[in-house]
Amino acid sequence: MTPKTFKIKSFGCQMNVYDGERMSELLGAQGMAAAADGEDADLVVLNTCHIREKAAEKAYSDIGRLRREDGSKPLIALAGCVAQAEGAEARRRSPMIDLVVGPQAYHRLPEMIAQAAGGGRPVDTDMPAISKFDALPARRRATPSAFLTVQEGCDKFCTYCVVPYTRGAEVSRPWDDIVAEAHALVDGGAREIVLLGQNVNAWSDGHRGLAELIRKLATIAGLERIRYTTSHPADMTDALIAAHGEVDKLMPYLHLPVQSGSNRILQAMNRSHTTDTYLRLLERMRAARPDIALSGDFIVAFPGETERDFEATLQLVDEVRYAAAYSFKYSARPGTPAATMEDQIPRDVMEDRLRRLHERINTHQLAFNRSKVGVHTQILIERAGRQDGQMIGKSPWLRSRRRPRHRPARARVRAALFARAAVRRLRPSPDYHRAAPRGAHRRAGQQGADRRRSGCCGARPRCPDWPLQPARQRP
Ligand code: 5AD
Ligand code: SF4
Repeated sequence: MTPKTFKIKSFGCQMNVYDGERMSELLGAQGMAAAADGEDADLVVLNTCHIREKAAEKAYSDIGRLRREDGSKPLIALAGCVAQAEGAEARRRSPMIDLVVGPQAYHRLPEMIAQAAGGGRPVDTDMPAISKFDALPARRRATPSAFLTVQEGCDKFCTYCVVPYTRGAEVSRPWDDIVAEAHALVDGGAREIVLLGQNVNAWSDGHRGLAELIRKLATIAGLERIRYTTSHPADMTDALIAAHGEVDKLMPYLHLPVQSGSNRILQAMNRSHTTDTYLRLLERMRAARPDIALSGDFIVAFPGETERDFEATLQLVDEVRYAAAYSFKYSARPGTPAATMEDQIPRDVMEDRLRRLHERINTHQLAFNRSKVGVHTQILIERAGRQDGQMIGKSPWLRSRRRPRHRPARARVRAALFARAAVRRLRPSPDYHRAAPRGAHRRAGQQGADRRRSGCCGARPRCPDWPLQPARQRP
C-alpha cells in the first residue's frame, strides 16, 4: 500500500536535522502528510547518525519498537549515515527495514518508497556530487532560525572519525543556489540562518570563501542573524576572522572543535593544529570580536591518552574559558585507523575523565552565563515554552533564554520575532546541576525555597525543574 502519512526521526547533527526537513518537504510535495504527534504513520524514516557506536545502535533499537501491537508495522526507511555505512547489510541485520537511502540519495525517496510499497527492497547509497539539491522542491516555509547546508563531506580524515567515509569528500554547493535558498528561507519567515557543513569554513566556489558568502547573505533584507557550524581550525581564514569584526549580522559565536589539549594526542588524531596554533587563532578571534562566545568539541580517552595528556586538555579548557563545549568518550569506529590502535582506554577511566571534563567545562559555562546577567540584548523568539504564554528564544551568544509569560503578550512576540530583553536570570546547565556540589548552587544564588516552589527534586540528575535564579538589577 502506498503510504499516505509519514514520520521522520532525525538523530545526530544539525545536518541531519536539515536533511530531515528537506525529506519532509519532498514527501509533502508528493501529497503525503506528516502524521500527527502520537499517531501511527504509514512510513517512518529513521535519519540516522553513525558518529559514535551508541548513536548507530540507537537506529536498530528504534526499528524494533516500530512493530505495532497487532503485529503490523509501517514502511521503514533507513536514511542517514548508518544507511550509508551499512548499505544492504543493514537489511540483513534488521529485516524490518524496507529501504535504505544514503545522505546523498534521499531525493530519490519517492520512487524508492513506491518500489518498497510494491514489495521491492531498494538500496541507494550512491554519492553523486550533490545533485540531490537540484531535485528537491523549493523552500517555502521556515522557522525563525533556519538551517541551510552549504557544504558537505570532509577531507580531513581524523583517525577516529567516520565522516569522510559516510559523507564523502568535501563538496561546496554553488554560490547562486545558496543565495537563492537563503532568500526563500527569509521569504518563508526565517530571521536567522545557520550555515551548515561538516567543514563549513572550507566552503569555497573556487575563488570566494565562506567570508564572502556571509557578507553577501548579510545584504538580504529581513535576515537579521547569520551563524555557521561546524568549523575546522585549519580553515579559519583571515577573511573569516575579519568578517566577525565587521559584519554585524554575523553572531558573536564560534564553534571550533579542538578535541584534545595534548599535542601528542592531536598528532595521533591527525588533527593538523597544535594547542598553540589553536589558542593563537582564538586570540585573533577575540581581538576581532571581543564578546565572542567560544565553543568546542572534545574527545576523552583517545587510544594512548595518559593522565598527563588529559590534564593538558583540562588546562586548555581553563585557558580558553569556553562559553559552552561538548565532550565525548572516544568510541572506536570500525574501519577508522584509531579503532586498531594500541592502548585502548578502559571504560572506567573514560568515564572518570569525561566527568572531570564536564565539571571543568560547566564551571566556565556558568561564569560566561553570569557575565551576561543584566546585559540588555535581543532574543530571537523561536517557540512557545511549556508554560502557557512562555516563550523560548536565543541570545546572540546562542544561549537559550526563557521569556516570562507576562510580558510581552504572545501575539506581539510572534509578530515581532525579536524581543529586547535583559538577561535577567540564569539557569545552570543540566550538567552543572548534576556535577556541581550543593554549595556551588547556593553560591550561584540558588535558594532552597525556589527549588521547592519549582518542583525540583534537588537531587535527581538533570532535573528539568531546576528553578531560575532571582533577577539582578539592570546596571
Ligand atoms: N568517538 C567519540 N567522539 C567522536 N567524534 C567524532 N568521532 C568520534 C568518535 N569516534 C566527536 C568529535 C566531533 C564531534 C562531532 O563528535 O568531537 O567534533
Ligand atoms: Fe570528522 Fe570533523 Fe575530523 Fe572531518 S574534521 S574527520 S568531520 S572530526
